[in-house]
Amino acid sequence: MTFRGKHLLGIEPLHPVEIITILDLADEYVGLNRASVKHADALTGLTQINMFFENSTRTQASFELAGMRLGADVMNMQMQASSIKKGETLIDTALTLNAMHPDLLVVRHPHSGAVDLLAQKVNCAVLNAGDGRHEHPTQALLDALTIRRSKGRLHRLNIAICGDIAHSRVARSNILLLGKMENRVRLVGPPTLIPSGAADWGVEVYDDMAKGLEGCDVVMMLRLQKERMDGGFIPSEREYYHRYGLDAGKLAHAKEDAIVMHPGPMNRGVEIDGTIADDINRSVIQEQVEMGVAVRMAAMDLLARNLRAEAA
Ligand code: NCD
Repeated sequence: MTFRGKHLLGIEPLHPVEIITILDLADEYVGLNRASVKHADALTGLTQINMFFENSTRTQASFELAGMRLGADVMNMQMQASSIKKGETLIDTALTLNAMHPDLLVVRHPHSGAVDLLAQKVNCAVLNAGDGRHEHPTQALLDALTIRRSKGRLHRLNIAICGDIAHSRVARSNILLLGKMENRVRLVGPPTLIPSGAADWGVEVYDDMAKGLEGCDVVMMLRLQKERMDGGFIPSEREYYHRYGLDAGKLAHAKEDAIVMHPGPMNRGVEIDGTIADDINRSVIQEQVEMGVAVRMAAMDLLARNLRAEAA
C-alpha cells in the first residue's frame, strides 16, 4: 500500500501508484458495502466532521455513510451558503473545530483554494469534497473506479468529457487523473464553456458532439453549472440540448460498448436524454454513486493510517 498524503486536497499532487492504492482498497470496500452487515473498524474511535458550505446530496451522504460504516463518530455541520462571510470566517470556523480535536474534516466550499487554506490551519486530515471550480478528487476517483470495473482497465481508453467544462471541478479532477493514467481525453462543448487554456492540458477539444464522440469508450456528461455562470454562456437550454444533449443519435457515434457517465445531479432534457440515463446497458450512473461510498471509505482509511503512523 502506498499513499503518503496527510490530506486529500486534489488529484494534482497524487502519484499514479497512490491512485491505484486508493482504487484497490475501494474495490475491497465494494464487497463490504454489498454484504448484509456493513461494518469495519478502520476509523473506530476517530471523529469525522463534514462541513458543506454548498448544497450536496450524494457527496455528503456518501461521506457520512463511509465514515459510519468504518466506525467513525460522524458529525454533519449545518452550513448554509448564506452564512459564508469568506476568508476570516472560514479560518475562524476551522480553528474552532480544530480545538475539538477532529481526526478527519470533509469540506466543500464555493471558493477555489478555500479547502487548501483551511488544511493549513488545522491538525487533522482534510478531504476536499469540492472547492469552487478547482478540484473534486473523490469524484474523479469514483469515476476512475467505475471505469476500471466496467472496462477492465484504466489506461489507453478514449474518454469524452462533455458540456460545461469551464465551471466544472469534476472535469478538472478527471482530466488530471485520466491523463496521469495515460488515457486520451477529449473535451466536447460549446467554445464558451471550454476554458481558454484547455489546449495546454494535453487534451483534444471539439465543439461538435458527433466528431468528439467518434470511437469513444467512455462518454462523461456534465451538468450546466448555472450557479457559477453570470449569464450568456448558451443561447437557450433547448438549443443546448439540440447540439450537446446526449441522445441515442449522438451516442451512436461512440463505440458500441461505450459507457455513459454523469456525476449528478442530472438535468434530464438539458445535457442528457432521460432514456439514455436510465438505460442499464449503457448508463453506469448508479454504479458511480455506489463506487462513491467505497472510494470515500478507502480514502479516509488510508488517511487515518497515515495519521496513526505520524502519531506513533
Ligand atoms: C458535482 C459537484 O458538486 O461538483 N456533483 C457531485 O459532486 N456529484 C457536479 C455538479 O454539481 O454538477
